[in-house]
Amino acid sequence: MQGNILKSHGRDHSSHLLITFDTETPEHRRKAREFLSGLVESNLITTALQQWEEAKAYRDVQATIHGNGAITDKDVAALLLSASSVFVGVMVSAEGYRALKLDTRYMPDDPSFLAGAKARVDVLQDPPVEDWEDNFTVPLHALVIVADDVADRLESVVTQLKELLQGFCLRVGEETGTAMRLKADGEEDPSAPVREHFGFVDGVSQPLFYARDIDNARTRRGGIDRYDPSAPLDQVLVKDPGGKDTGYGSYFVYRKLEQNVEGFRDDEMALAKKIAEFAHPKTPTPTPEDIALAGAYMVGRFQDGTPVVERGVAGLGSLPNNFTFDADPDGVRCPFQAHVRKSNPRGDKQRQFGQPLTQERTVRIVRRAISYGKVTLQPGPDDKVGLLFLCAQSSIADQFEFIQNQWANNRNFLREHSGLDPVIGQIQQDQPDDDTLAGHWPKLYGSRNELDFSTNPPSVVGHTFALRLLGPWVTMKGGEYFFVPSLSALRAYG
Ligand code: HEM
Repeated sequence: MQGNILKSHGRDHSSHLLITFDTETPEHRRKAREFLSGLVESNLITTALQQWEEAKAYRDVQATIHGNGAITDKDVAALLLSASSVFVGVMVSAEGYRALKLDTRYMPDDPSFLAGAKARVDVLQDPPVEDWEDNFTVPLHALVIVADDVADRLESVVTQLKELLQGFCLRVGEETGTAMRLKADGEEDPSAPVREHFGFVDGVSQPLFYARDIDNARTRRGGIDRYDPSAPLDQVLVKDPGGKDTGYGSYFVYRKLEQNVEGFRDDEMALAKKIAEFAHPKTPTPTPEDIALAGAYMVGRFQDGTPVVERGVAGLGSLPNNFTFDADPDGVRCPFQAHVRKSNPRGDKQRQFGQPLTQERTVRIVRRAISYGKVTLQPGPDDKVGLLFLCAQSSIADQFEFIQNQWANNRNFLREHSGLDPVIGQIQQDQPDDDTLAGHWPKLYGSRNELDFSTNPPSVVGHTFALRLLGPWVTMKGGEYFFVPSLSALRAYG
């Protein structure tokens, strides 16, 4: 099995080679298939086992460093470098399987995968394919991910791969990603958590598969006792039809998502102004706390990762994943449409529709995204920034597509007029752009009954107000669905 499925490869720099093979002649097709199998034969692919062993070696080196006060920064960097290597992974699209004329018994059978992302535009309310970037409008056959913490070492593998691809390739598009390790004020700091361009710490909540990771989550950093972070292997792995007995793979969704940071900030401010009007009507100018709360209502977490359902001010930090929405059945602490509540409702469906929690939990995805564009929280008007969104699952229709289509884009989930997901919700092209798209937001954090002081005597009013944000501020620029084949299948392709 390849790496980066059960656990993130964790490298901060990433290059994605989007490959369109020249499949006109049998000779070219043979070379393309040999390229894929050659990645395994030449040990370029990082296996799940290798990733596991490297992670252990890395931890050992870190332990040595901690126990040795005399060690210099330069030695630390060299030691850590020696304990890791470049990560390489490969995946193939359904169009790729067909174009390479791989035996049909090798073809994975997920219906959305077989259709390909271009055929799912209408289902997901994505922009039309002609509006996508060139890297994605072409037929994409394979994606190779090369990742490392050391940009130079990564570059030499990318160059090597591009040379290998010469002669039987029509096009190799490239997207590059960087994990933005930034402090809250946007200053770069290698020890800071990873943030996305709207400024929020990202990659906090992930389904965990390895016993070691699950134990760590349960016992360290305050522990987890209210939310089960573990997931069964079949949430992400499927038997690879082209592989041997132990050959497993996974479906990957790839989407280039451009973020309009200025637009997001404007919406955050519009929401903050309303929050201020309700919280302190006599001085209705939004305070920094109101603005932080507005962002937290949109995302479901404060910028530092604190879940807004837990408290109305930041400060818990990015680590806690120990929360559900049990104590907030009315959405007065975390609005129903907040990005994390839409994309992982943590029991809302049981409360609202009586659906077993086990069923809701099968919808979870494993995120492997990385930011692209300038490393900054304040991009200029011409800076194109966003997320190279990648997620793994065992069923694209039941996991990624379900979240995007049934939850994020659905203004009536969890309840009538809950509103679109303010981060990733996409509007139907033919939908009226009117107030029915407004979301409902808490008037006063955590309060169910609010007094309206504008009337005399003050009257009791509802606990939420409706506000139509101007987003979406995330625009899909293209993507594809891939399958990450097992090593035994890849060998057989040659
Ligand atoms: C969580 C941002 C796209 C699904 C998060 C978090 C942030 C974030 C800040 C909270 C940190 C965390 O729990 O890791 C973004 C941005 C996106 C984006 C800026 C686009 C540019 C997507 C897409 C999906 C998605 C396309 C799936 C359709 C999730 C899920 C979680 C999450 C499942 C974890 C929820 C939980 O378990 O609590 N995202 N996201 N995100 N996002 Fe996104």
